[in-house]
Amino acid sequence: MTKNNNNQEDLFDEYAYDWWNKTGNYKLLHKLNPLRLEYILSRLEIKNKKILDIGCGGGILSEELSKMGAKVTGIDSSKKSINIAKKHAKEQDLEIEYINGSILDVSSLGNFDCVVCFEMIEHIHDPKKLIEKIGTITQKKSHLFMSTINRNLKSFVFAKIFAEYILNVVPRGTHQYAKFITPYELNNMLEQHNFNISSIDGILFNPINESFTLGNDTEVNYFLHAEK
Ligand SMILES: C[S@@+](CC[C@H](N)C(=O)[O-])C[C@H]1O[C@@H](n2cnc3c(N)ncnc32)[C@H](O)[C@@H]1O
Repeated sequence: MTKNNNNQEDLFDEYAYDWWNKTGNYKLLHKLNPLRLEYILSRLEIKNKKILDIGCGGGILSEELSKMGAKVTGIDSSKKSINIAKKHAKEQDLEIEYINGSILDVSSLGNFDCVVCFEMIEHIHDPKKLIEKIGTITQKKSHLFMSTINRNLKSFVFAKIFAEYILNVVPRGTHQYAKFITPYELNNMLEQHNFNISSIDGILFNPINESFTLGNDTEVNYFLHAEK
């Protein structure tokens, strides 16, 4: 948790062993998971829908979507994470297709009713390419759910300094401020690929009990729902 990591790919491989440890490096993602599932379910009936989970990591969200009856494919560039995801899904008797590779490089993924991309876009060099790719694997009426970190002084202080260096709830080096992305920037990219944003909602973190709630303040972490 205290190690300083500069290479993002190495970092997700290095901590892959910890994906299903609810008190480990990814404990906040476990705590956030019920809220993001609720967010999706309140906006879309997912039973039998084809869903792609981009940057699925160890499959924390993929598994919950699969349990709700969705046909889930998860993709992640970290080989170790995908191996953990496959193993865990098998143990849970869940049928999820997992692919190892960068979303920007893989071809012939097919078409999806819904794409989920949580806590991922802030880790890639070219977010425009990611949104462009999402445009190519979706059709009219497809849904997109994302979460990411806004870019401003407040998000730098809370999502970077507090989370990584003071509260130590996120491994050091996980986030790079320059890659944070504003709702305005995301909206512009999405519009170019025929997505309309249905809602943007703030995610509020309570450091005392390490819990998350939805709110109006989108200055640090936010959820986004868009439809094509
Ligand atoms: C912070 S984790 C989020 C994991 C998962 N979405 C969750 O919230 O539980 C970000 C994940 O995105 C993956 N990732 C980063 N760049 C990627 C790319 N270009 N293609 C696919 N996955 C990528 C990383 O390997 C990592 O597992």
